This record gives sequence, C-alpha cells and structure tokens, in this order.
Amino acid sequence: MNTFDKNTLTQQIEDTYFAPFFSRTPLSVERGDGIYVYDENGRKYYDFTAGWGVTSIGHGHPVITNALLDQSKKIIQTPDAGKTYSPARARLLLLLSELLPSGLKRVFFTNSGAEANDAAIKLARKASGKKNIISLQGRFHGRTIGTVSATGQASHRDRYSPLMPHHLYAPFNDLPAIGELIDRDVAAIIVEPIQGEGGIRIPADDYLAGLSALCKKHGVYLIVDEVQTGFFRTGPAFASSLCGVKADFLTMGKGMAGGFPFAAFAMTDEVVAKLAVGDHGGTYCGNPLGCAVSYAVIRYLLDIKIGTNVKEVGGFALSTLQWWQKELPDMITGVRGKGLLLALELSDAALARTVQEECFKNGLLINVTQKTVIRLSPALTISWGEMNAGLHLLKRTLNKCATKRQTAVNVA
Ligand SMILES: Cc1ncc(COP(=O)(O)O)c(C=O)c1O
Repeated sequence: MNTFDKNTLTQQIEDTYFAPFFSRTPLSVERGDGIYVYDENGRKYYDFTAGWGVTSIGHGHPVITNALLDQSKKIIQTPDAGKTYSPARARLLLLLSELLPSGLKRVFFTNSGAEANDAAIKLARKASGKKNIISLQGRFHGRTIGTVSATGQASHRDRYSPLMPHHLYAPFNDLPAIGELIDRDVAAIIVEPIQGEGGIRIPADDYLAGLSALCKKHGVYLIVDEVQTGFFRTGPAFASSLCGVKADFLTMGKGMAGGFPFAAFAMTDEVVAKLAVGDHGGTYCGNPLGCAVSYAVIRYLLDIKIGTNVKEVGGFALSTLQWWQKELPDMITGVRGKGLLLALELSDAALARTVQEECFKNGLLINVTQKTVIRLSPALTISWGEMNAGLHLLKRTLNKCATKRQTAVNVA
C-alpha cells in the first residue's frame, strides 16, 4: 500500500519554512472548481470562506483564467509603471465609473485592502490639512502599521505600540460619541458599512446616513471601507450605496478581482482638487494584468445580475440560520448578515472551534472570527442547492454538538 501522503509533505515544508503567523488548518489545497476545493489526495471540500470573501465567482473560473492568459500574452506591467497609459486600466476605470456611488469618480489602484485604506488616510490628512483620524471600536481596516493604528480592535492593535499618532476611537453605533470627538482637528472618519472581521455587525438603519451628515456638517472626510462588503457581497454593488451615505473616499479589494491580489480607492473631485502629482503612487498601481482580471470579474458579475442570486441564496441561508437559532437557542446566540455575508454566533469559543473542526472533517470549510462567530461568505455564484448542501453539513455538526452537550448534562 502506498502510504505517501502529498498533503503531509506540503504541510511539513510549510510548517518549517512559512512564517508562523496563522493558526493552520491541516488542509493542502491543490485546486478549486466553483465553490469546491480539492486537497492533494483529491478529497473535495465545500469552501464557505471564499478565501475570506475573495473568490467572488468561485475557484478556477474560465472568466479569470482567460483574462489572465489573454492579458499576460499582451503585457503584464506597463513601462514606467503608472506614468504610461493602458487600455486595460482605462476599460476598468470606465466600468467602475458606472458602478461606484455618484461623486466617487477618481480611482487609484493598490495591491491590498490595507494599502487602499492606508492611502485614503494619508491623502485625507494631506487634503484636509488636519491630523486626527477617528475609527470605530470593533472595526478592522488592515495590517499595515497605519491601518493597524486605525483599527478599533485592541487585540489587533495594541501589541504593535508605539502606533501611528493621531488616531481616535469611538464606540460602534454611537453618533453622540463621534459628535464629542469631531471638533478635535479631525481629518477623516473611517467606517465599514458592516463590520466584517468584527463579527458581521450591522449598524442601526440610520447610523451611516447620520455619520455622513455629521461629517459634512463638520467638514470631515468620510472614508467608507468596502473592502469586504463591496462588489455585491451584501447584494448591491456597494453596501453603503443604499444607506444615504456620501463618501469622500471609498476603498475596495477582495472580491473585485476574484482572487487576483488587487484593490483600489475612489475619491471625489473635491478631494482630488486638493491633491497633486506625487502625493501617492506605487509600482503596480493598476497594472494591466490586475486591471484585466478585475474588469472580467466585475463585467461577469454584472452580466449574470449577481445581486439577484446573492439576495435569494443569502436570504434563504439567513432564514435557515434563524430557524436553527429557534431550535438550538443555548448554542446559537446570534444570527445576522446581509446577502452572502452571514454570521452564526455561538455561545462560546470552545464550541465554535469544535464546530469548525468537525465541519472540516465532514468536508465543509468555514471561518471563525471574534472567537465565537462563524462567518459564512461563499462565492457569490453559489447555487441554492450548493448552499443547502453546505448548510446541511453545518447543521449535522451542530446537532452532533447539541447531542454531546445534552448527554453531558444528563450524566452530570
Ligand atoms: C473591511 C476590511 N478592510 C480592509 C481589509 C484588509 O484587506 P487586505 O487583507 O487585502 O489588506 C480587510 C480584510 O479582511 C477588511 O475586511
């Protein structure tokens, strides 16, 4: 019998040479197809993480592979980087201009969401001539030292002290608290329309509009971080577009190129008028390969009217989770989300860990954030049947945990 396991070899090499910043899942993924991924032995898993909300049109999609191939045959990086023009970049800019909330006309590209937020913070200071940045407790904006400083989560932030100066923090969902800080030389407030890493927390209906109005009244820029919520993740193209928000900066990433590392930020003309050549830049700032993939992904999402699928399949999943909560109220303490950004909050961290491990054994990959929140964010193209099958695996695991807990209670 051949006992050689390629998965194990890969894991041994990574465990030796990959910097140890992640707690690891013992899964070595060789390939993906739609919402499924396959390990090196060919075992299939449902991917309900989409690589942290990134693979918006699923794994191995020909729209992406064709765009990569076609563009790479032409050119990957423009000479002199962003100084020269590119038809691939122009085509994406035109498409984004149709999709972005009105007023946000000027776009610059980055390689990651953190970089986009970092640039927005930097440029908000330059354009306003003011110093302070307000961010909200529980929010997450990236892992550069600038975005870590703007992250309202002490666990992601405080161990890197000294942080960048002039960051202020306000409680989530509390406009009066912002009102108390807003006169303190504030350049910008940065906000996620829905907290992603923070546990899929949705603010009160009028919160974002109120925040936007407060910013306008006090001449403070509003940076809306749509890195996780953008590009139809919650149904509309941008989660903030239906909330009465007038952003001065909007940052994007993750799903905008379906897995190719690519991100961007958009600004109003009013902001751009206060900026000058040399205020920002970057080697890959919209390189033709990234632009071609992003264009192909967004065009595809629009062509198949993905918002309808997100609303229907996401709505079905949310009502299923709500039903489970009624059945297992001791274990499931919260259910929330919009579109295909969904949370199932469990009663304790040990239970969430067990559920995640058991799901993995049963072939379902889920993400846990904030220790107790199971975050479901599969590809936006997931079908009703695929969602139903994945949820079935999750429910089976929850039932098993419930039976174990009941047995323990009975024995005690
Ligand atoms: C809301 C939000 N902003 C920014 C980021 C950082 O993006 P990246 O990991 O691409 O730097 C993330 C990542 O999870 C995020 O969820």
